[in-house]
Amino acid sequence: MHCVQKISENIYWVGGNDRRLERFENMFPLPNGVCYNSFLILDEKTALMDSVDTAISRLFIENVTHVLNGRDLDYLVINHTEPDHCANIEEIVKRYPNVKIVGNKKTFQFIGQFYDFDYSKNVLEVNDGDTLSLGKHNLKFMTAPMVHWPEVMFTYEETEKILFSADAFGTFGALAGNIFSDETDYEHFYLEEARRYYANIVGKYGQQVRNALKKVCSDEVKMICSLHGPVWRENLSYIIDKYEKWSGYEPEKSGVVLVYASMYGNMENTVNVIANKLAIKGVKDMRIYDVSKTHPSYIISDIWKYSHAIFGSVTYNMGLYYGMESLLYELKALNLQNRKVGLVGSGTWASQSVRIMNEIVSSMKNMEIVGTPFEITSSMKQNQEETLDKFVEEFYNSIK
Ligand SMILES: Cc1cc2nc3c(=O)[nH]c(=O)nc-3n(C[C@H](O)[C@H](O)[C@H](O)COP(=O)(O)O)c2cc1C
Ligand SMILES: [Fe+2]
Ligand SMILES: [Fe+2]
Repeated sequence: MHCVQKISENIYWVGGNDRRLERFENMFPLPNGVCYNSFLILDEKTALMDSVDTAISRLFIENVTHVLNGRDLDYLVINHTEPDHCANIEEIVKRYPNVKIVGNKKTFQFIGQFYDFDYSKNVLEVNDGDTLSLGKHNLKFMTAPMVHWPEVMFTYEETEKILFSADAFGTFGALAGNIFSDETDYEHFYLEEARRYYANIVGKYGQQVRNALKKVCSDEVKMICSLHGPVWRENLSYIIDKYEKWSGYEPEKSGVVLVYASMYGNMENTVNVIANKLAIKGVKDMRIYDVSKTHPSYIISDIWKYSHAIFGSVTYNMGLYYGMESLLYELKALNLQNRKVGLVGSGTWASQSVRIMNEIVSSMKNMEIVGTPFEITSSMKQNQEETLDKFVEEFYNSIK
């Protein structure tokens, strides 16, 4: 049975959800599933905006067939060729052999690399700024390179002022019938997941996201349709403001995320003591994570949100405990900037963890290491409390 919804008079949502997939990109846990959006415009010409993942191909084809109601499909616009959106191009071409696939040069390069079917008669190559009239609706194509992949483009429908924004403004989390953000409790149900999606999936490309925002996000945009998550038709500035912050590597909130790597609990204890002391001084809303327990995507997301982080790690075989090492390298790879960081290290015979954490964090952009890193030998002892208090005081002063 089809499952579609109108987003405006002649534009339909024809996407669907996957609540069964364990991990997005086989990497990021999906406790609330994920949705794959696709939209169909009915005008003198018909145009399908992107396709969906293989997981929901059958529903997708039913949706498209239902909305077309016997009409032919004239255009399939490909804003992004990642397989979570492109798995159905071949099926669409088989069913609608006259369809023109609309994409840029790179789009077609990637389609050719991923798939093995003859679409040579279906190509409509466009460049940045080109337009395509469907009748009353006018599509304008704008390249948005590296707003996830190099071939990405945004499509702006000029009559109804709808931005089809590829992965931008997307989020993890399936839709629960309500496809508009204003029909959901976005702040509680989606925002954390939108941030986790942003930081981990597109976080690395802050500058490219900013370039794309500048190109398209004017006051006149009335609706934003991302490939994942709810459609925005009200209060667009809410999500655009979040994107301004996230892409500028600017913390949303003053606060501390404490992350530790500990095998036998001594580093864990030290980090708990630090958080306790900060709380007594008045620091609110702190987060503590065990690097071996929580998936790094959640830790990265909170580090994106808050202004301060404390990393506490044991030394492991003359190196850094690898959960901590990979977390720090991933933060560096994602281009995280502008955070204040405290370091806590431990070892039992030749401590290396502070040195290594310091090296990694110092090689990142605009990261400030606050105070003198605090070090313990195997476990923290009472006679170190004064030194710890000094560390906590310095850290606290940097938050105030
Ligand atoms: C497998 C393993 C390897 C370790 N390698 C080192 C090391 O190379 N240098 C060192 O000073 N301590 C090393 N340690 C000790 C830890 O860094 C740490 O001091 C100890 O595990 C106590 O802290 P915890 O209770 O937080 O785990 C190692 C511990 C383990 C279990
Ligand atoms: Fe993508
Ligand atoms: Fe995607």
